Amino acid sequence: MTSDIESIQSEALAAIDAAQDLRALDELRVAELGKKGRLTAILKTLGGMEPEQRKQVGGQVNQAKAALQQAINARKDALERAEIDAKLSSEAIDVTLPGRGIEPGTLHPLRRTAERISALFGSIGFEVVSGPEIEDDWHNFEALNFPPEHPARAMHDTFWVNGGSHVLRTHTSPVQVRTMQARKPPLRIIAPGRVYRCDSDRTHSPMFHQIEGLYVAENVSFADLKSDLQQFLSLYFEREVETRFRPSYFPFTEPSCEVDIRYEDLRGRTGWMEILGCGMVHPNVFKAVGLDPEAVTGYAFGMGVERMAMLRYGVDDLRLFFDNDTRFLKQFSAFGNVFGAAA
Ligand code: DAH
Repeated sequence: MTSDIESIQSEALAAIDAAQDLRALDELRVAELGKKGRLTAILKTLGGMEPEQRKQVGGQVNQAKAALQQAINARKDALERAEIDAKLSSEAIDVTLPGRGIEPGTLHPLRRTAERISALFGSIGFEVVSGPEIEDDWHNFEALNFPPEHPARAMHDTFWVNGGSHVLRTHTSPVQVRTMQARKPPLRIIAPGRVYRCDSDRTHSPMFHQIEGLYVAENVSFADLKSDLQQFLSLYFEREVETRFRPSYFPFTEPSCEVDIRYEDLRGRTGWMEILGCGMVHPNVFKAVGLDPEAVTGYAFGMGVERMAMLRYGVDDLRLFFDNDTRFLKQFSAFGNVFGAAA
């Protein structure tokens, strides 16, 4: 009997040590210590034994049960700890990995260009103003001396909205009208912003940016227009720029010009490149906003921000500005103001 108990105990202890998980361990506990266990079966035979033997066997069985219970508790602790360790290491965060870092954002090259142009005009007294991107027909065309059915309206591939009463502004020139309606001359304003035309290819985007300029006062002359633009272009390109004022047509200016600059490409070939439109404010525009064309004169100009940025930075595809590829955009990054080292 004694050796039976000993062998049951050592067998059970080995099984407890070998239990791989909590469920297997619990099954062992039920099998060895439960009502149907081998030790319980021995206890059931105590009744038929001599008092001396009963005492001895009973003591041994109880000792064996206590030893098994202790072993089960120890094994249970070990399995639980192993489970927690496994969970911890599988969910571990490797704090030694280098961080991804936070890169400072940069001004978009078009924004940088618009701010630079605005700042250059700001230095000679021009104030930055803005107007709505959804315009009514009157501000976008009519007040700018585009009569209804005028063929010049066809020059703008207009996005019409509200059944034709409104447009996505096709140029920043309506800001001239709004400013002259709201304030009295003398006026010197520069108006950067988005404009829209139904046009899309390598050199045209349906949304692009313009900068409008307007100077209205007594005795503003074409000479003022020429010298202010000439000075601006030399400052903008940081070199003496050779310009050509070529006669042109815009409904809202008379006379009207397109300004070309002389450029040299990488192979040393030279040519003229158109960069802006300008002219003296048409009397009909003054009349439309309630100003007396006999009392004031003015000049106006409009230029494309994309074109100005492409020329300054040597970018040959307009679409790069709108792809949002940071490898492209990063090249224009510079800390500090828009005149920073890489501006
Ligand atoms: N608004 C014209 C365009 O988008 C550009 C322009 C030309 C603006 C002459 C002006 C100007 O202010 O005087 O084609």
